[in-house]
Amino acid sequence: MNFLDIIQKKKENKILSEEEIKYFIENYVKGEIPDYQVSAFLMAVYFNKLNLDETYYLTKAMIDSGDRVDLSEVPGSKVDKHSTGGVGDTVTLVLGPLLASVGLVFAKMSGRGLGHTGGTLDKLEAIPGFNINIGGKEFVEILKKSNIAVIGQTENIVPADKLLYALRDATATVDNVSLIASSILSKKIALGTDALVLDVKVGNGAFMKDVPSAIELSKLMVNLGKKFGRNTKAIITSMNEPLGDAIGNSIEVIEAINILKGKKSGHLKDIALRIGSKLMIMEGISKNEEEAIKVLEEKISDGSAIEKFKEMVELQAGDSSYIDDTDKFKKSSIIKDIVSEETGFVKSIEAIEIGIASRDLGAGRHKKSDVLDLNAGIYLHKKVGDYVEKGEKIATIYTEKENEVEAAIERIKKAYDFSEKKETYKLIIEEID
Ligand code: URA
Ligand code: CA
Repeated sequence: MNFLDIIQKKKENKILSEEEIKYFIENYVKGEIPDYQVSAFLMAVYFNKLNLDETYYLTKAMIDSGDRVDLSEVPGSKVDKHSTGGVGDTVTLVLGPLLASVGLVFAKMSGRGLGHTGGTLDKLEAIPGFNINIGGKEFVEILKKSNIAVIGQTENIVPADKLLYALRDATATVDNVSLIASSILSKKIALGTDALVLDVKVGNGAFMKDVPSAIELSKLMVNLGKKFGRNTKAIITSMNEPLGDAIGNSIEVIEAINILKGKKSGHLKDIALRIGSKLMIMEGISKNEEEAIKVLEEKISDGSAIEKFKEMVELQAGDSSYIDDTDKFKKSSIIKDIVSEETGFVKSIEAIEIGIASRDLGAGRHKKSDVLDLNAGIYLHKKVGDYVEKGEKIATIYTEKENEVEAAIERIKKAYDFSEKKETYKLIIEEID
């Protein structure tokens, strides 16, 4: 076999065989196919697409490029969720402890933030001592003890994706549904959970800018999951404003803690309950959504959810006194309120702009090696549908970067759009089974 022939075949819009796709991934990972040839191949895939079978073979070859994490020793139903990346999206930190407290095993490998989107690993590291560098064996041991662990990707999970993702990023071939689906699903399947819910974001802060492309990606990922024998469902949710009220790292952790303590409600909690109820029904521990949500609410009100969060923090070497008393989190030296220049109902808040402002204040990275200020960020006091008077406080910024303050304030003000009438916000757009 010869990779030039494979490029030629895809250029002519022909269907590739499993052997050809396997040959591509195996030899690319070995370093035997140069990036320039793979770049040409990716562009051919971008224009001529892969069908479901080709996408399945690609995903399978990518998984086989590295190790799998064996969770068979962990008793019980193992569940996982994945979000395609949002702003103020702390669902994992709310959902994980909730599911662990109803007896499901929440086994999650998370990522770091890049660009305008946050990452769960960075958020968890805002808790002093918290260790995300945990190997496969210890991951299994922690899961057996407490039903929950959230760790970084272990070393050799889907090495093909690391190479391909970097190349896609540099060749404008990220936004192809087959390439996105194989990238996400390969990492999820390599981790041996029983059930998976995908939260596909749509809107100005998301990968998928419109509903039809979000539906296409969701259906493809659900079908792929099923081909691998994994119980998989997806929900499509709006990113026309940041999900939670907090955007940053420690400030998002505090919001999650407040939800788990029963002190906070809102869209972040709504999505966590919805995904939680889906996984409970999928794993047969609840009959319907209403019943499941009632059980989850009880875990918040009787204190078991926050206890689970503390247990997770302790088992991963974090200081759980910060969970009892969130005033212990360090305060930024610059804290500034932003007031509205307009009167009206908030119509939308451009999530991507809020994400960029938060990054520039120190909460995110411009490049991989940047060191984060884990206490920097933005708190939104007004969200879509809220009435605001001119001069009223809409947001507060937290930072150490004096020279970024003015630009961030301008960006945040511009991100808000107002209307005379109250807008309804459709948070859950579609569910894909
Ligand atoms: N997230 C991933 O892991 N891969 C993609 O291709 C897109 C989003
Ligand atoms: Ca505006």
